[in-house]
Formats: sequence, C-alpha cells, structure tokens
Amino acid sequence: MNKKTISVNYFEFASLDELEASDVGLIEKAIEIAGKSYTPYSNFPVGAAVLLDNGEVFAGNNQENIAYPSGTCAERSVLNFVHGNYPDNKIKVIAITALKSTSSIPVTPCGFCRQVIVEIEQHQGAHIKVILHKIGGSTYVFESAVSLLPLAFEDEYLKP
Ligand code: THU
Repeated sequence: MNKKTISVNYFEFASLDELEASDVGLIEKAIEIAGKSYTPYSNFPVGAAVLLDNGEVFAGNNQENIAYPSGTCAERSVLNFVHGNYPDNKIKVIAITALKSTSSIPVTPCGFCRQVIVEIEQHQGAHIKVILHKIGGSTYVFESAVSLLPLAFEDEYLKP
C-alpha cells in the first residue's frame, strides 16, 4: 500500500491592484451580473464572467427555481451559453464571485461546475484560468480548472 498526495497550486492576491487589468475587468463584470441573479431561495447571488480568445466577454448568474435542483449556478449559466454559441472559440478565463458570502475565502465552484469547466477545458485543448474573488478580500487564481478537480471523472470508454 502506498500513501499518495495530490497537491494543488494557486496564486493568492491580497489586492486587486496586483492583478492584470483584464482580469480585474472580468471580476467587475462578475460582480455586476451577480447583482442581476434570480436567487429568491438562497439569497446568495453569484456571478461568473468569461473571456474568449476573440476578446469577447460574457457573463451569467445563478438562476434558482422553486423545484430547487432545477436551478443553475452562475458558472454553468455562462459556460453552457458560451460553449453552445461559440464552440470554435476557446475560453481563456472565468472569474467568479459571490455578493453576500460570509466565508473568509473567495466562493469556490460546486462539484457540478468543476466537472463542467474541466470538460470544456479538455474539449478545447487549452487551460482555462479560474479566478475566484472575494469582494473586499483576496483573489485566488488557478492556472487550470483541473487544479480544482483532481482525479476528475473521465473514461476512454465514454469518450467520443
Ligand atoms: N452557486 C453558484 O451559482 N455558484 C457557486 O460557485 C456556488 C453556488 C449558487 C447555487 C445556488 O443558487 C446558490 O449559489 C446557493 O447555493
């Protein structure tokens, strides 16, 4: 029996001043779209903004439903739209933030959303930079979505 270790690298930025201007712009877009979320059940607005390789920016937020599992996270709202409408473009960056989080660290994507980001990353054959921002706090930057989902589910048998 071997004990194994998986480690994850990410960058922590204490201030937005330390980030690239385009990343700050994406975070601002995520904050703006979070304010338009439909979150009557959780009152936990989340926003996500993505940058495409053609320079276009798209954003989405969480959309809840009285049948709770019918709701969609901010990340999948924007990712499914972009992957559906721009299948030939690569997503370079996704920035995610939550308006009312009481956590001391930035909001982190749920397991479903991590699996979706990883699949798009694999499909496009290029890393997606994941930026997690806590309003008034720090920002975590992951160079690839795989960092957020070690041992992500996949199997050659199921691949196209
Ligand atoms: N949520 C997101 O939209 N993204 C995340 O990264 C975490 C959770 C949403 C789902 C639900 O609408 C609300 O936040 C509370 O879980």
